[in-house]
Amino acid sequence: MTIELVGVVGAGTMGNGIAHVLAVRGWRVLLSDVERRWLDRALETIAKNLDREVAKNKITVADRAAALRRIQPTLDRAELANCDFVVEAATEKFEIKSAIFRELDTICRPEIILASNTSSISITRLAALTKRPAQVIGMHFFNPVPVMKLVEVIRGLATADETFETVRDLALKLEKTPVEVNDAPGFVSNRVLMPLLNEAMYAVMEGVAAAEAVDQVFTLGMAHPMGPLALADFIGLDVCLDIMRVLHEGLGDPKYRPCPLLSKMVDAGWLGRKSGRGFYQY
Ligand code: 3HC
Repeated sequence: MTIELVGVVGAGTMGNGIAHVLAVRGWRVLLSDVERRWLDRALETIAKNLDREVAKNKITVADRAAALRRIQPTLDRAELANCDFVVEAATEKFEIKSAIFRELDTICRPEIILASNTSSISITRLAALTKRPAQVIGMHFFNPVPVMKLVEVIRGLATADETFETVRDLALKLEKTPVEVNDAPGFVSNRVLMPLLNEAMYAVMEGVAAAEAVDQVFTLGMAHPMGPLALADFIGLDVCLDIMRVLHEGLGDPKYRPCPLLSKMVDAGWLGRKSGRGFYQY
């Protein structure tokens, strides 16, 4: 089946990035969220990020305008019935994603693939909520989506080979590199990345070093583009906490215990860049 219209559920950081790359590569996108202000903010962000690409001569002014025209925002999830492929990028909480998957399963045509951009939640569990477990798959993008080359493609226990091939082809057409992994808490990316970020937070909490010093160890010593605490702020401390909880519960090993400083900062509303304060002030 040809994919012409792609539904993106959730217009946050990841959802707007996914809509951005799809629209630039020529797909029409239906961007769905539950509040007008999230959709407005997403369209503003996409316009701003497209400006960067124009400024770097990666796309023309006409490409920018065409990409923006291809993105249709909607508050009505029922409109996703017209989509040929749907990728969900809602909040990283099982209750929220499970409600969305149940609903998508009733709205979308039975042959349509439902992909999730989840960072850590079980694809097998999401698939089991639907009547189409063979067409449910993980399609995990990285932030900033227009820049990062990876798409982690996660096979649930029931994911069909055909579903996997479709998602792999789509990722390649988006000029991303798909990497195949099996379903397990945090997959590969966040199972390895998040404990690093969490451990960096313990180092700060225990007074081993200041946040800036921890980050310098990684930027200067290991050539990471951002240190672990700057990266945690960039990802969002609430997202980091949600992922640590999934790892802790799903793998059952105390080594995945979320750092108490992380929990405290999230309780305070210090969520990183998006709230203006995290390990750094913005
Ligand atoms: N949209 C489009 N282009 C963007 C962009 C955006 N949102 N953000 C940055 N860019 C472009 C810039 O225009 C620039 O383009 P150029 O290479 O052609 O000049 C390039 O990206 C680099 O940007 P800047 O020069 O402004 O800034 P930096 O050199 O400091 O790079 C960064 C910024 C790309 C964010 C870099 O610091 C980086 O790679 N950081 C690590 C990011 C990372 O690890 N992401 C993964 C997070 S984990 C995740 O997402 C998984 C989830 O499940 C938690």
